[in-house]
Amino acid sequence: ELEDTYTVVRENAPDCLLIGNIGAPQLTLANKAVEILDADILAIHLNPLQESIQPEGDLDARGYLDMIGEITSSVDIPILAKETGCGISAESAEALVEAGVDYIDIEGAGGTSWAAVETYRAEDRYLGETFWDWGIPTAVSTAEVANTVDVPIISSGGIRSGLEAAKAIALGADAVGMALPFLKNATSQEQLNRFISRFNDSLRIAMFLVGANSIEELKESKLVIRGKTREWLNERGINTKNYSRR
Ligand SMILES: Cc1cc2nc3c(=O)[nH]c(=O)nc-3n(C[C@H](O)[C@H](O)[C@H](O)COP(=O)(O)O)c2cc1C
Repeated sequence: ELEDTYTVVRENAPDCLLIGNIGAPQLTLANKAVEILDADILAIHLNPLQESIQPEGDLDARGYLDMIGEITSSVDIPILAKETGCGISAESAEALVEAGVDYIDIEGAGGTSWAAVETYRAEDRYLGETFWDWGIPTAVSTAEVANTVDVPIISSGGIRSGLEAAKAIALGADAVGMALPFLKNATSQEQLNRFISRFNDSLRIAMFLVGANSIEELKESKLVIRGKTREWLNERGINTKNYSRR
């Protein structure tokens, strides 16, 4: 019944990279979603924290990895696995690549929090408040996954400027994603354009200052990782000196 609300995207944006989005148990929807959207990539979102906090949440995650494997082998376009605010660990990234996913969006902790969103919906705020900040921070998850698997990585979760995007790319991401800033700046077309051009300007300046002519060169720029991020990565066996002295 709501097919029109999806086909409208491709009709109005014939050339844009369009990513569809389903949950892991929605295998039967996968091909239909791709067809309706005319999507270039199909994302499978992982949201166990949100499901845990939602009163109507689905807590039976048995067989999810197998379902992801079935989707990757039955859908013709590339598959992106994405978290929704808790980050992807090295181990999860390996399992997802093994299941056949082509891209990973790590969406780490530090941006939109679904525990927080669900807290506002819940009658009892206790669970949402307890897990409000749960997850692997975006910078840590980006580095973990980039150091573990070879598939292209999108870094997201709290990215707000081109400078933060540059840092995510230097940590190993191939692209970044944002949601909340686009919603907040959608008050007018002018405001949206201003946000996008500020983002692009700050990314260009960061690249200029480190002497990077391309995203590939930005990936190779030296990065000094300090504080909690260094502590976390070192605890996980990632040598942060590889970023500062390569
Ligand atoms: C209002 C809203 C709705 C969202 N809905 C979905 C969704 O249906 N599926 C999904 O995978 N991610 C969803 N996300 C998460 C985004 O895709 C993105 O990964 C995340 O919000 C990025 O972090 P940021 O908002 O801090 O930039 C949503 C985000 C927002 C703000």
